[in-house]
Amino acid sequence: MRVAIIGTGYVGLTTGVCLAFMGHTVSCLDSDEAKIKALREGKIPIYEPFLEEVFHEALPQLNFTSSYSEAIPEAEVVFIAVGTPPTPSGAPNLEYLSQAAKSIGQHITRDFVVVVNKSTVPIGSGNWVDSLLREAIAGRTDKSGTLGFAVASNPEFLREGSALHDSLYPDRIVIGADEPRALEVLYSLYRPIVDQTFTPPNYLPRPETVGAVPLLSTDLASAELIKYAANAFLALKISFINEIGLVAERVGANIGEVGRGIGLDSRIGPRFLSAGIGWGGSCFGKDTAALIATAGEYGLHLPIVEAAKKINSRQRDRVVEKLLNELKILKGRTVGLLGLAFKPNTDDLREAPAIEIAQKLIDRGVRVKAHDPIAMEKFEQSYGKMGVVLCQSAEQVVEDCDAVVLVTEWNDYRDLDWEALAKKMRSALILDGRHTLDKDKLMRAGMRYVSIS
Ligand code: UGA
Repeated sequence: MRVAIIGTGYVGLTTGVCLAFMGHTVSCLDSDEAKIKALREGKIPIYEPFLEEVFHEALPQLNFTSSYSEAIPEAEVVFIAVGTPPTPSGAPNLEYLSQAAKSIGQHITRDFVVVVNKSTVPIGSGNWVDSLLREAIAGRTDKSGTLGFAVASNPEFLREGSALHDSLYPDRIVIGADEPRALEVLYSLYRPIVDQTFTPPNYLPRPETVGAVPLLSTDLASAELIKYAANAFLALKISFINEIGLVAERVGANIGEVGRGIGLDSRIGPRFLSAGIGWGGSCFGKDTAALIATAGEYGLHLPIVEAAKKINSRQRDRVVEKLLNELKILKGRTVGLLGLAFKPNTDDLREAPAIEIAQKLIDRGVRVKAHDPIAMEKFEQSYGKMGVVLCQSAEQVVEDCDAVVLVTEWNDYRDLDWEALAKKMRSALILDGRHTLDKDKLMRAGMRYVSIS
């Protein structure tokens, strides 16, 4: 099938590359011409494991452009995957979505096109995009043919850092539309993934447990709400274990074991129960805020989602409290941060806990040093003025530190020579913010081990 994707961020680019890998002909459009130029030269603007490999395999099926008149007229399916960044009220900024919808309306030529919201958009946006498209078509002078379309919602559930795996082997695909024909088109589009008939790349083999992928077709509003409810639920699962962590700490229980113990109940499930400094990234914070904002428009309060947010922000304060407790005085101390990205295997710094923690420490007169295997260049570009001293290795970070905080659980940090590192520190204190280090091993290496539970 012929597909156009508006927006080449994490979601748009991954979707485009995967659909091209499935054999569809995909045109990726972005208004950022520099980005398009780079993509045409084979340069991927984001760090995402295996994206480059799949991109190169799918290249014959891919086209990159900044021109709607090039991408839209032939497309049978048009995905909108533009950014919807949060506004101060919590409601997302829909300016890019609106521009994309109008431009699509100005350029469609086929008698039936499915326009799909892939961006995370407020409930009701499907209808809004529908009206924008209608207006744009009505304003055209070249209305030859029927110019029919239907709007659908196809929320994205991929995680950064494992975006390709999640796209090729998803837990489910959700498509929402009020027009049955649109659902049929999307079913055909996703068929190779639903039936798992494609040949997996050898670097991303199909897990043995993956069979046919459930495809859930719903009405528009349900698909839109599924996206918010899924992210809110994952966020509150993490906040729940962090709240239980507070109790665990007081009663002397091990929160890792508590998480495993409850997660083995298949009704609860083991994932997203890792306690620590909490969630970051561009999705959970934004989507929980948007859900609260949408509910507010209907006069509803969402105390559970609100509490999940509060608990998450408290986890960042707990890092400072723990350091204060251990070091007694923070002013004039040096603290090292291991990890800057909001999670491992990405260079994304949006709402990264490291930034908030670094700022809180700097505000208290702490000298902050940091390292990240991938995200340092991005950090320097966006947060260079904060005053964090960037180091080329974990070894350099710990030198002369009064404490080191593991913020992002990159694999690189698990197997460090902690004995050698302990000797380089002014005081050998480690605060494990992700519960991933081997406490006994660290203690044998001469480190004082504290965790956020
Ligand atoms: C999240 C969802 O997991 C995806 O399903 C969704 O598609 C995506 O948002 C989105 O809306 O675009 P992502 O933000 O990429 O994906 O990353 P996650 O793996 O969900 O991690 C989010 C944050 O939670 C990270 O900071 C991670 O460190 C933290 N986390 C995760 C925990 O603190 N504890 C856990 O047990 C799991």
